[in-house]
Amino acid sequence: MARVTIRDIGQMKADGKKIPMVTAYDYTAACLADQAGIPILLVGDSLGMVVLGYDSTVNVTMDDILHHTKAVIRGAKNAMVVSDLPFMTYQVDSSQALTNAARLIQEGGAQSVKLEGGESVAETVHRLVEAGIPVMGHIGLTPQSINTFGGYRVQGRNEVESAKLMRDAKALEDAGAYAIVLELVPTPLAGLISRRLNVPTIGIGAGPECDGQVQVLHDMLGLFTDFVPRHTFQYAKLAEAIKSAFARYIQDIEGGAFPTEKQSFGMDESILEELMALP
Ligand code: KIV
Repeated sequence: MARVTIRDIGQMKADGKKIPMVTAYDYTAACLADQAGIPILLVGDSLGMVVLGYDSTVNVTMDDILHHTKAVIRGAKNAMVVSDLPFMTYQVDSSQALTNAARLIQEGGAQSVKLEGGESVAETVHRLVEAGIPVMGHIGLTPQSINTFGGYRVQGRNEVESAKLMRDAKALEDAGAYAIVLELVPTPLAGLISRRLNVPTIGIGAGPECDGQVQVLHDMLGLFTDFVPRHTFQYAKLAEAIKSAFARYIQDIEGGAFPTEKQSFGMDESILEELMALP
């Protein structure tokens, strides 16, 4: 099977086929998501929170994303890998964005990049696309601007904000973005934007009318327990499973039930006897 491309993603919208996407930050998770058939893996800057333990995504660096992109790309045989441009690695000007996006593609091996913002980054998106770098947009609640938003709140509930989100989405599409993430946007607005655009929308907390859905892997698998976002559905409870496995491990070591002969290695008796005869 060939690797998923941005054309395939566009075709999925044209065919009315929903697009699943999930974040991945390491080789093992990438292998599992890829083998399950998820077409897009996002090396999201959410890794700052769920892998590195920061309070927000603001501290994530190019080196962090590059490091994790390289791991994910080794595991993703068919899925398209999208890597986030971290905070302040594309906002200064288009040439900064080009340099950093090129690193994610050339050094990291990603097939496309994602950046946050609407009209304000449209020119940058255009420059990247012209240079041959596929761009996924991201509007609504854009976590890199958390210090401006002051909290993870639903965006676009009033007239001004909703009209702005419509303009942002259109500006990204016109600039050449091949898909747009809508984060924490009311369902009817996300539906309207999705119907107005030719390119697919990928929702997170934006309701079922988006063309696709994205979830943070640690949230949907119940691995991250600091908080559970309202938009998350836990498809597994891995934190509980892992903690009970660790508890049993401790118990087995303390009680002598682990390791057994099956997990241990023998040696030639005669060598042992020789060793024992040594002074
Ligand atoms: O970094 C991330 O995980 C994201 C998703 C929330 C879309 O940007």
